[in-house]
Amino acid sequence: MDQRELQNKIRKLLKDRHAVLLVHYYQPGEIQDIADILGDSLALSLGAAKTDADVIVFAGVHFMAESASIICPDKTVLLPRLDVGCPLADMITVDQLVQARKSHPGVPIVTYINSSAEIKAHSDICCTSSNALNVVASLGDKTVIMAPDGNLARYISGFTDKHIIPWDGYCPVHHFLTVDDVRKAKRKYPRALFAAHPECSPDVLAMADFAGGTGGILRFAGESGVSAMIIGTEMGLLHQLKKQNPKMTFIPASEKLICRTMKLITLNDIFDALSEMKHIIRVPEEIRIPARKALDRMLAIP
Ligand code: 13P
Ligand code: SF4
Repeated sequence: MDQRELQNKIRKLLKDRHAVLLVHYYQPGEIQDIADILGDSLALSLGAAKTDADVIVFAGVHFMAESASIICPDKTVLLPRLDVGCPLADMITVDQLVQARKSHPGVPIVTYINSSAEIKAHSDICCTSSNALNVVASLGDKTVIMAPDGNLARYISGFTDKHIIPWDGYCPVHHFLTVDDVRKAKRKYPRALFAAHPECSPDVLAMADFAGGTGGILRFAGESGVSAMIIGTEMGLLHQLKKQNPKMTFIPASEKLICRTMKLITLNDIFDALSEMKHIIRVPEEIRIPARKALDRMLAIP
């Protein structure tokens, strides 16, 4: 079966099953192209909350499907593969989080959506890269723990007078983008602007003309009026950047900016998931209810 044929078959199956396909910007282009909702982590959570479909197929990583299941317990959430973890989400355990609470009594814990349901359940509120500053500002407390992404925490601390205690986790895809990588790209494209994700290191973010989540980078590119942009985030976003801005040139800040697990899902996996209604992601109620509280608190922030 060729790609177009497979895409059409998936779209037909989605209709038959009264299902929607939610796709993150880091997914392969051929999957982005058949999405019902294509977006960043926040847009996908909002999309899951609003859909009236019976089935949600999530083309993303495990924590994203879990979040959809936490928000929509009455819907069937399918993840086309089970081996699509996120190394950043694995950089925190419940024991460590409980210990952090003990060490900082009364200090709220803001947890990045890139975390397991269990970690969310032990948090006060969630955030994504696009709303982290608003989430922190919404809290009355002077000190806040931000977990598990230390780079996002350090980035946010530059825009608030609250004391941010960063976790020491990181996204390997973004963290290992180096100043040297960016310098090389800038030397090759001296007139290009540089946009970077807040999961990058502080040194790299200091070089950026714009820092923001994937949705923010897309908006920035569309409004920038420039002809070339160096992109400091996972390669998948370039598909959408090029589609929405066909006259612009987009340069990955490094060829290493590939999230291996985001690239595991294929059109065939999605077809099989819909045909066999697998793999169902369900979060046990004792975890789902407190995790939902942390997600709802975030979703309520304008
Ligand atoms: P955003 O889409 O919220 O920018 O998140 C990036 C990311 O790393 C998702 O895994
Ligand atoms: Fe996790 Fe980083 Fe991949 Fe996002 S890009 S899923 S944070 S490893």
